[in-house]
Amino acid sequence: DKGNYRHFMAKEIHEQPEVVGRTLAHYLDLAEGVVRLPFELTFDPRTLSRVTISACGTAYYAGLVARYWLERFAGLSVEIDIASEFRYREAPLPENGLTILVSQSGETADTLAALRYAREQGQHILSIVNVETSTIARESDTVAQTLAGPEIGVASTKAFTCQLAVFACLALALGRARGVLGKERERELVAELVAAPGQMAQALAHEAQIEPVARDVARASSVLYLGRGPAFPLALEGALKLKELSYIHAEGYAAGELKHGPIALIDFAMPVIVLAPPDASLEKTVSNLQEVAARGGHLILIGSPCARDAAAAELAGFIEMPESVAGPFAVIVYAVPAQLLAYHVATFMGKDVDQPRNLAKSVTVE
Ligand code: M6R
Repeated sequence: DKGNYRHFMAKEIHEQPEVVGRTLAHYLDLAEGVVRLPFELTFDPRTLSRVTISACGTAYYAGLVARYWLERFAGLSVEIDIASEFRYREAPLPENGLTILVSQSGETADTLAALRYAREQGQHILSIVNVETSTIARESDTVAQTLAGPEIGVASTKAFTCQLAVFACLALALGRARGVLGKERERELVAELVAAPGQMAQALAHEAQIEPVARDVARASSVLYLGRGPAFPLALEGALKLKELSYIHAEGYAAGELKHGPIALIDFAMPVIVLAPPDASLEKTVSNLQEVAARGGHLILIGSPCARDAAAAELAGFIEMPESVAGPFAVIVYAVPAQLLAYHVATFMGKDVDQPRNLAKSVTVE
């Protein structure tokens, strides 16, 4: 049932404040303002040698974001690879390692094969899945469920932000257990996480500002998406959403890689969408943005008024995000405008957003 929405995708984008809130409530002790995992770990976090993450598509991008959090908050070394590559690499996995599989459906063939490989290598297996009865869930030692509810749209939206919510809680829980994260810092970070659903609702309330930007992007034949830190994987995700739904070629890049090749593409016609949440890397992202501006690039900024002022560049489009959406978890909220932009570009172009050509919701063959 689409409710009052034209498409399942629109409904699922708008459900995010609720389902991310519900997922967070499952993994946090809201009264105490700390993390409380709803399961026992099958390993000792203090002696964990390494975390390996494997997944496909959007779920893989959630893992890429999580790497920043697991490294920073839990002091863990993290390796991550696409499941279709990982399953055949014959990567040696260290003793006392944890492998995390991420999957909305829990049935993706390559991700399941990655799980079985990690199992053979004696890893602890934890999966972050949306479908609790799925094969991946059944074959895992620990299941961390995303409480996104059924996701019908082929493009993953609410499952992605719920995966991020689970990963954030997991990183904080492991950080605490490993003695890397102090009580005060944990409380601060939990408070930031708890604010995310409300901030997502704020971002959704400003949907109208995305439509003119979407009409502009719809004219393009190619789009570049840039971000740094956790916003880099979000740039990959934004580009994937755009490709899947509008069939416009889009590439996500780490903003710092601009000079190493993609800057050659810059011209007045190709939109360059810059994700610039207020975090430690904002200044660097702004200087990359200025490099695009100096070459007459077609800039679209997704950021706070502060980022716009710092950019001091001519913008073809600006999607304004509240200044308060800042710090390591801002990326969860910034996913909303990236999803909405892809949705509006595609609907403006008359594409079938719920059932894009050639795509299946669940990829159960390799
Ligand atoms: O069900 P899964 O999360 O394992 O699916 C993984 C990918 O197939 C999926 O994320 C795909 O990339 C989506 N179409 C992205 O919108």
